[in-house]
Amino acid sequence: MNRIPVITIDGPTASGKGTVASRVAQTLGFALLDSGALYRLTALAATESGVDLGDEPGLVGIAAGLDIRFEGERILLSGREVSDAIRAEAVGVAASRIAILPGVRSALVDLQHGFRRAPGLVADGRDMGTVIFPDADLKVFLTASVEARADRRYKQLIGKGFPANMRALLQDLRDRDARDTERAVAPLKPAEGAHLLDTSDMTIEQAVEKVLGWYQSVPQ
Ligand code: CDP
Repeated sequence: MNRIPVITIDGPTASGKGTVASRVAQTLGFALLDSGALYRLTALAATESGVDLGDEPGLVGIAAGLDIRFEGERILLSGREVSDAIRAEAVGVAASRIAILPGVRSALVDLQHGFRRAPGLVADGRDMGTVIFPDADLKVFLTASVEARADRRYKQLIGKGFPANMRALLQDLRDRDARDTERAVAPLKPAEGAHLLDTSDMTIEQAVEKVLGWYQSVPQ
């Protein structure tokens, strides 16, 4: 059987894993799964359809029926471009609230497995190495201090033209970390055998080099 290799990159919000995952995928010519985008898309679609963020059956229906397309950097929801809309802080907060619901998580499993295509996949999220791709060839757990993450998120939001407030961002990161690590289903934690990477004092390039180096030393 031809196994398709997978690299998982998990970690807390704003740790830089999205950028690292995308550069690693680009360098290796692998596909990229931004699993957080799926939770964000579900949250956005639910809000737009008037489904309450506490209505699990309603949300499961939304997640199971998502009509999405990834075209390079562009993300389309029911044919409409939502690449920027899903990055709004409010959508991130809503995504993290619905991500605690087991039904929503299960509804997104097959969709995520579908991203595993030759010649390989880089999967970015919270539970890629622990739940979705437990047989991954390389598992990375990427972290950074809460201050470094708030600073990055602040610059990212301002850069996209969204309003941002440092104190509110720090509080939001702490709340989101708590929701991600303390939830009963698929909590955020390093997978067994994961390589830990603290990027607080690292550039993106250094983090990318580190991951590529680890992947090169994986026995093929
Ligand atoms: O940009 P940020 O890291 O905050 O968020 P994201 O990676 O786009 O994911 C949005 C939310 O979805 C996160 O706050 C997580 O709570 C949730 N999520 C998850 O539960 N499992 C994943 N594999 C990916 C995201």
